[in-house]
Amino acid sequence: MKLGRLNHIGVATPSIERSLELYRTMFGAEPHGPPFDLPAQGVRVWFVDASNSQIELIEPLGEDSPIVRFLDKNPQGGQHHVCFEVPDIHAAKAEFEAKGARVLGEPRIGAHGTFVFFVHPKDMGGVLTEIMET
Ligand code: CO
Repeated sequence: MKLGRLNHIGVATPSIERSLELYRTMFGAEPHGPPFDLPAQGVRVWFVDASNSQIELIEPLGEDSPIVRFLDKNPQGGQHHVCFEVPDIHAAKAEFEAKGARVLGEPRIGAHGTFVFFVHPKDMGGVLTEIMET
């Protein structure tokens, strides 16, 4: 497998509105479209455009959101995951598993409307890694 393009960096926050304001103030950055809910992943999402990638601001959607615990440990938010592109999500999953990495769940529709899965941070040097089909 070849390391694909960095699609985005996921940043968890208690408020995507407040975080967007921060990126606006610090960088003059603008959002990529409106915020939206991603119930399958338990998050509310707002993308911020950078010239060569995006920041994915995510806040919890509901009490059992997978990022609630992250925010308990990091109350002001913080870097949550990185996302790389691959051409074939099922081939990528099989390859990660063959190399002994723990893939978290089955591929599901992600924030860009294509299939994604996550690789356990313990198998990626401490970095929660999202793999996204282009
Ligand atoms: Co993401």
